[in-house]
Amino acid sequence: MFNPKLFIEEALDYLRRIYGSIDCAIACVSGGVDSVTAAIIAEMALENEVVPVFIDTGLMRFGEAEAVRNALSGLINLKIYDYSDSIVSNLSELSDAEEKRRVFRDLFYSAVSDIARRHGCSYVIQGTTKADVVETIGGVKTQHNVLTQELLLKYGVKTVEPLRNLYKDQVRALAHHLGVPSSIIKRQPFPGPGLLIRAVGRFNRDKLELVRSATKVVDERLSGCSYSQYFPAAWEYDVVSEGCLDGNLFKVFSVKTTGVVGGSRVYGHPVLVEGFDERDAFKLYEQFDAVRHPHTLVSLASRDGGRYFIAIRIVETEDYVTASVPVVERGLLLELAEELLENPEVRAVGYDVTPKPPATIEYE
Ligand code: XMP
Repeated sequence: MFNPKLFIEEALDYLRRIYGSIDCAIACVSGGVDSVTAAIIAEMALENEVVPVFIDTGLMRFGEAEAVRNALSGLINLKIYDYSDSIVSNLSELSDAEEKRRVFRDLFYSAVSDIARRHGCSYVIQGTTKADVVETIGGVKTQHNVLTQELLLKYGVKTVEPLRNLYKDQVRALAHHLGVPSSIIKRQPFPGPGLLIRAVGRFNRDKLELVRSATKVVDERLSGCSYSQYFPAAWEYDVVSEGCLDGNLFKVFSVKTTGVVGGSRVYGHPVLVEGFDERDAFKLYEQFDAVRHPHTLVSLASRDGGRYFIAIRIVETEDYVTASVPVVERGLLLELAEELLENPEVRAVGYDVTPKPPATIEYE
C-alpha cells in the first residue's frame, strides 16, 4: 500500500543527497498532476532556485497557458514561454506516429535547453512516471519525456525525476497529501505532445485547428463526467476497403493508429462499423485482428461532404497501463456527434469501443 508520507521523507532525503549542491533548475510544468507534483517535491528538496516554466508548444487546448497559470496561482509562480510557431511549423507534413513523437521531443527539449540556458541552469525537473518509462523501454511508444544519456548530452541538460517510480494513482495520492488543488488532481491527463498525436496521420495546421475546436466541444459536453480520460482525435475520411460483419458494413481507414499486443507496439488501420449500437459493441473489437486493426469504432453520425473523421475516445483506468471503455449514455454521445458534425470539415463521427490492450488510449 502506497504511503505518501513515507515516500516524501525518502524522496526528499534522496534528492538532497544527490542534487543538494546543484546550481539551479527549471521545472517543466504542464499543469497536469505529474509535473505539478514533481515541481513541488523538488522545491521542497532543493535549496537553490527552482524556476517553474510552462512551454507553449502550440499543440495545447484553447487558452491552456492562461488556464494553467490561473489554476496554479498561489501555489506555483509559472513563467510562460511561447515556442508555438517554430514547433508547429517544424512538425508540418510529418505522418508517421513515431517520427512525429521523435521530432516533437527534439523540438521540445531544444526549447527546454534554451530556457534552462537563459536562466543559467543545467538541471530540469520533470514529472516522468513509471508508466512512461515502462512503455518506452518496452517498445510500446516513445514517450517524449523519457530521455537516454545520449539525448541528455545532446540537449546539454540533466533531469531530476522525483516521480519516476510511481504510477498515476500513486502520484494523485501524493498530490492530495501535498495539498495540490483537486482541480489539478482531477485534471484530464494531457500528453506532452498534445494535439500533435490527436491530429492523427499527416500533421498540418488545418487538422490541428479542427482537433483543437473538437476538443473544446467534447470538454464542454463531458466536463461534468467522471471518466478517467476523454478526448476527440481527427483523421482524413479516407477508406481503403469495406467489408461485412454479421450483416453490418465496416470500413477500414487508410490512416494507421497504435495498439499494444503481447506487450509490444502494433500499428494498423482503424475500422469503423456501421449500424451497431455502441452499448452492444464491447466485444466487437475481438472480431478484428488487433495487429492489423488495433482500434475498432462504431459509427455515431455522418453526412455528405467534409474531409475528416472524428473519433471520440472515453476510457476508465487506474494506472493508464490498461483501460476499459465505459457505457456512456447514448443520447449524450449522439448529441456530441451532431455538434461535432456542425463543422463543415467533419464528415463522420465514431465512438471507440476498444479497451487497452489491444488499443492504446491515444491513437499514436
Ligand atoms: P497510451 O496512448 O500510451 O496512453 O495508452 C497512456 C497515457 O499516457 C498519455 N500519453 C502521454 N503522456 N507524453 C505524455 O506526457 C506522451 O508522449 C504520451 N503519450 C501518451 C495518454 O494521454 C494516456 O493518459
